[in-house]
Amino acid sequence: MSEKKIIAVVGATGAQGGGVARAILEDGQSSFRVRAITRNPASDNAQALASLGAEVVQADLDDQASLEEAFSGAHGVFGITNFWEHFSVEKEKAQARNIAQAAKVAGVNHVVWSTLEDTRNWVPLEDDRMPTLHGAFKVPHFDGKGESNAFFAEAGVPTTNLLTSFYWENLIYFGMGPQRGEDGRLTFNLPMGDRKLPGIAVEDIGRAAYGIFKQGEEFVGKTVGIAGQHLSGAEMAEALSAAFGEPVQYNAVPFDVYRGLGFDGADDLGNMFQFNHDFEDYFRGARPTDQTRALNPKLGGFSEWLAANKHRIPVDPA
Ligand SMILES: NC(=O)c1ccc[n+]([C@@H]2O[C@H](COP(=O)([O-])OP(=O)(O)OC[C@H]3O[C@@H](n4cnc5c(N)ncnc54)[C@H](OP(=O)(O)O)[C@@H]3O)[C@@H](O)[C@H]2O)c1
Repeated sequence: MSEKKIIAVVGATGAQGGGVARAILEDGQSSFRVRAITRNPASDNAQALASLGAEVVQADLDDQASLEEAFSGAHGVFGITNFWEHFSVEKEKAQARNIAQAAKVAGVNHVVWSTLEDTRNWVPLEDDRMPTLHGAFKVPHFDGKGESNAFFAEAGVPTTNLLTSFYWENLIYFGMGPQRGEDGRLTFNLPMGDRKLPGIAVEDIGRAAYGIFKQGEEFVGKTVGIAGQHLSGAEMAEALSAAFGEPVQYNAVPFDVYRGLGFDGADDLGNMFQFNHDFEDYFRGARPTDQTRALNPKLGGFSEWLAANKHRIPVDPA
């Protein structure tokens, strides 16, 4: 058998990259092997990947030279930046540029870049339907990623831009699960009005990205959007009711109320939900579930995800 090609996975110890790494490692027939990139090879997550058979290497997104070394000899690179670690668009852009430049220097054949829309192409800064943030953005954690697509194009690296969707894991880790009120009832708060939000299990993002690497050439130069299911807040509440065995009421939080919630990034997320809502046709159209299933035949819906994960959603007892 010919030697397996290396996929260097940025963010391998995290949600998306971890999914990519595990998708490859779990496929005994894969023609790829995993090089997991982390700042800390001694971490539990890094060691868990090593025990599954990944090569673990140290590199830092702030250090292009370290990425060049980590990408050396790799066929593919899964690239991701973590806005929520620093809340800086400039830093996110600099890190994306480092990935693109390092991939060019290393002669990588295929980068799958986990990006999002530059929402200013739909909502220019002078459009006052939503506030401009930090003087230059509408949805900072989207806009910087979208702007960064140009770094890959300019570097001339064969790239697929991957548009991901709302992780259902946000109900576990981002405090977005149902809340129990004073009256003892559960409410699912989401600023989506009556529109549908494309969502996905993070593990399915990884499997879809693996599908893109497997089909290679076909997806170079393309933008691919993925989702497991498109659901309204009311439909998500219905699925949550069934999963928890008690009624969960959907509360369509007004965008301004959400932006004012006071936690770091509330304004960014409030604008994001408004973008998803106001441009529902575009946003859903860019994330077709049938295409996602073609890339990832194991793709699941929200109810399946809940069946496997409801015990991980923190909910106060009745
Ligand atoms: N939550 C959602 O619904 C959603 C949906 C779409 C897109 N996103 C985007 O997803 C991104 C976060 O991805 P995730 O959820 O997979 O993150 P995560 O689970 O928090 O993990 C972050 C990963 O990034 C790595 N990392 C961060 N800074 C690094 C650096 N300087 N050098 C090297 N590696 C670095 C970390 O590696 P080490 O710590 O091991 O070094 C870790 O593996 C965000 O930018 C967010 O906007 C989120």
